[in-house]
Amino acid sequence: MAEADARSVAILISGRGSNMTALVEAADAPDAAYKVVLVASDKSDAPGLAWARARGIAIFALSPKGLGKPAYEAALDAALRAAEVGTIALAGYMRLLSDGFVAKWRGRIVNIHPSLLPRYKGLDTHARAIAAGDAVAGCSVHIVTEELDGGAVLGQAEVPILPGDDADRLAERVLAAEHRLYPATLAEFVAR
Ligand code: GAR
Repeated sequence: MAEADARSVAILISGRGSNMTALVEAADAPDAAYKVVLVASDKSDAPGLAWARARGIAIFALSPKGLGKPAYEAALDAALRAAEVGTIALAGYMRLLSDGFVAKWRGRIVNIHPSLLPRYKGLDTHARAIAAGDAVAGCSVHIVTEELDGGAVLGQAEVPILPGDDADRLAERVLAAEHRLYPATLAEFVAR
């Protein structure tokens, strides 16, 4: 079977979905580099799912709870292939994909992470950057590999840490930068 078009994108979310919204809105432009063919979530009540459904985008919602990771990922993989997805964009998808899943989609999964990788892989990135006394924080879009937040960085945006910043205030400004960085980086990625 021919490999699916890289410009056919699925977005995976677990919650709010503000990055997903930014990606979808960028795809509405007449000259958009990619189209969003599926929004999938591991949480059927993820707020972002309702937004995507209302927007007329195909959605896939399935919880791994009670199902187990292998069956969950097999169902997710089948949904992605049925939708002829070429690129998977993780956008606040807070579940680790198995090595087997990553291998099947090697080089075709990207993620946005709220730090300047390779600094602050994992969680609580903003609190850790403030505690370290960093002057600058930011976000990164990277390829997903078996190593958590460890794949090649495709794009980054810097955000200054201001006096009096706490993790929430910094997160808000970094999130605004994420919403600009992710659509632009994904557009470049799918056109490679
Ligand atoms: C974003 O800040 C994203 O970078 C982060 O979760 C938030 C999701 O917000 N992702 C990670 O921490 C992944 N390790 P959103 O649902 O509004 O896009």
